[in-house]
Amino acid sequence: MKVQGVVRPPGDKSISHRAVMLAGLARGASELEGLLTGADVKSTARVLRQLGARVSSVREGGNVTVHASRISHPASRLNCGNSGTTARLMLGILAGQRFAATLTGDASLRRRPMRRVTEPLRAMGADIQEKGGDALPLTIRGGRLHALTYTTPVASAQIKSALLLAGLTGNVAVTIREPYRSRDHTERLFVHLGLGLHERAGAIVYEPSDRSVVPPFRLSIPGDASSAAFLVAAAVLAEGGELVIEHVGVNPTRTGFLVVLERMGVHVERVNLRDEGGEPVADLVARPAALRGTEVSAAEVPTLVDEVPVLAVLASRAAAGSETVFREVGELRVKESNRLELIAANLRAVGVEAEARANDLFVCGTTRRPSGRIETARDHRLAMAFAVLGTLPGADVRLSERASVGISYPRFFDDLRSIRETGKGKRER
Ligand code: S3P
Repeated sequence: MKVQGVVRPPGDKSISHRAVMLAGLARGASELEGLLTGADVKSTARVLRQLGARVSSVREGGNVTVHASRISHPASRLNCGNSGTTARLMLGILAGQRFAATLTGDASLRRRPMRRVTEPLRAMGADIQEKGGDALPLTIRGGRLHALTYTTPVASAQIKSALLLAGLTGNVAVTIREPYRSRDHTERLFVHLGLGLHERAGAIVYEPSDRSVVPPFRLSIPGDASSAAFLVAAAVLAEGGELVIEHVGVNPTRTGFLVVLERMGVHVERVNLRDEGGEPVADLVARPAALRGTEVSAAEVPTLVDEVPVLAVLASRAAAGSETVFREVGELRVKESNRLELIAANLRAVGVEAEARANDLFVCGTTRRPSGRIETARDHRLAMAFAVLGTLPGADVRLSERASVGISYPRFFDDLRSIRETGKGKRER
């Protein structure tokens, strides 16, 4: 297959969640352009509506308007669907509210750990009742909070963001340190909106001020670097051509995959670099390349945590026998699926040598034609990573389902087809 054309990935999932939530807390109407239309962001919009905000429908091509009103007691349980970001960040928002609300989610989300967020929120003074261990459903009654200084046990933007949002809604100071820097979209948006956030001696500090009221805002949301990664990978595995991926957020806390690709022998050009709403944005130019193995360090993992499936797929096409190691990727066990085990098992299912050993992942390059059935466990990133592997000439990669891509990239299969078949990517979304 050859690639050609221009394609625009959907809006950034992480920024979309944060934008809808902060707009829901603002005084007045906010206008959001380029918001992701995936199921996860719809979950955030639905939960905010249950709390009293008026959020216009999240539809492709349309701007989303959020009319905030005072957050109020929901009449029923707040269903966060498949979205860990919705659940964890909403816990932060609810920690500052003086009413009780129960959060739940789908079967995958109900298996994901929540104490990483509820423990520090309890330390701030929130009352959180578990129904069955370290998982949803949870009932939270927020209220008068105290200031918190906290070091997160894992580098997680969801923990950090939940605590910053609790500081904002509870009107208290929060100081956070993390083992490695995780994505910083919440910090950037706070700064962009003039909410009292700064860095002090390596810590992230939120300090409420008289002006700690979220102003209504307009925001253009960049394309999702994590979604763009699948398109880059399809171009790298192609037999020729060049693909332009437009309007991609290139925040350095998200683009570790480009750094790793460079070591693997792939240079992705960034052109047209600009700033949108406090986030760096660029167009990426990706071309086919010969791959070699590399070692991904623990410090790099937070900057590419969602790209491990697609990087592992690329590592399987590195020069025969060359090994790639991903260090300390144990967090992948608690994503939408047990991604660590499923990446290894699915690579083996298509004839690749791969193994998860303790918290490390090993993948060996091969030139063998991939053939076999992939169990996605309804995990969108596994489905997309292995769909890219299936674009290799002569590949026979069968996915157990494809619908999960709707979580973060509803048009994924259309875009993948358009860059191959017609040679013309779509400019409009
Ligand atoms: C996200 C943070 C990451 C990432 C997830 C989105 C966010 O999770 O895997 O897809 O928007 O804050 P962790 O914070 O658990 O690492």
